[in-house]
Amino acid sequence: MRARALTVPRAAGERTRRALADAGALREDLAIVEEEGQLVLPVRDEARVLPAWGELGEREFPPLPPTGPSDFRELLPWPSAERAQVPRAFDVVGDVVLIRLPDSLLARRFEIGEALLRFVPSTRIVGLDRGVRGPERRRSVERIAGSGGWATRHRENRLEFDVDVERAYFSPRLAGEHARVASEVRRGDRFYDLCCGVGPFAVTAARDGSARSVVAVDANPEAVALLRATLRRYPFGGLVQPLEARVEDFVRTAGPAERVLVNLPHEGIKYATLVAPLVAPGGRLYYYEVVPRDEIRRRAAVVENALAPAGPFTVTTVRSVHPYSPASDLLAISVDRRES
Ligand SMILES: C[S@@+](CC[C@H](N)C(=O)[O-])C[C@H]1O[C@@H](n2cnc3c(N)ncnc32)[C@H](O)[C@@H]1O
Repeated sequence: MRARALTVPRAAGERTRRALADAGALREDLAIVEEEGQLVLPVRDEARVLPAWGELGEREFPPLPPTGPSDFRELLPWPSAERAQVPRAFDVVGDVVLIRLPDSLLARRFEIGEALLRFVPSTRIVGLDRGVRGPERRRSVERIAGSGGWATRHRENRLEFDVDVERAYFSPRLAGEHARVASEVRRGDRFYDLCCGVGPFAVTAARDGSARSVVAVDANPEAVALLRATLRRYPFGGLVQPLEARVEDFVRTAGPAERVLVNLPHEGIKYATLVAPLVAPGGRLYYYEVVPRDEIRRRAAVVENALAPAGPFTVTTVRSVHPYSPASDLLAISVDRRES
């Protein structure tokens, strides 16, 4: 293919290639040609090229095979220093892609949205994630590319969940936790999934059918409605009892269970102490907490002390699920209630 061509001595080749790439001036669809000790670089039509850089002309270049970029930021036609300001990470929930951006990039959010729409296969809509808020942890999102609403179906652990990223909490980063907790359910266990959201812990735990019962409780009626929609699609759905209720009310009448999970990670130990009396002797409490990194080592002792009034508890694992902020992690803490 014919294109503008910048010819430079071989020794200056790499330096010039990098400078052109940084300025967004290098054509990435055409191969650089080497001939007679010189490199010939394909340059974009609109790019400004100074005479001092080399000899500018025109010539045929072989096309590069179309390989997709491994980083969506490469789809932004920006100088690399500006691309580097864009966070590399994003979340995929069904056919929805969510990205968080610093304030400095908000003016360019639509370009970033279009790049993600092209980069992630089967994306329908891209949202600017403005974080979760309120007791129901609903996400505030703004459409920055694509079309349609925020309801989708998300696949994880060979299950498909009805999700609405705006109306009920869901995080695709917890798939490993949903599977791990489900794998620890023993035959005949009663399982409480408290603050269940759209129910990924409950549904995953119910799938293998060994639990005696699974109760999933959430105060957000829209989360419970989404859980019901998921359960209707599975033959084991009847094992899960979805309940629209506050945990504070549920604990007043609930009986004991061998597996009790509470997932309100910003409330610290408060809800763990509230639900600890429900854990049957020999049972296990799972709870999640956002903890400053320099306090993680001391956390097991703090948790055991806080639960002691409800019974003899021993922390069995404290693991980091993922970083939550530059200075804190989301922790998964398992605590066993001893028999006496
Ligand atoms: C972090 S989300 C947990 C989502 C879910 N466990 C998961 O893995 O996707 C917290 C959930 O707790 C619910 N919630 C908050 N306060 C509650 C309360 N007092 N009683 C019951 N549910 C509550 C919210 O509606 C929200 O769905």
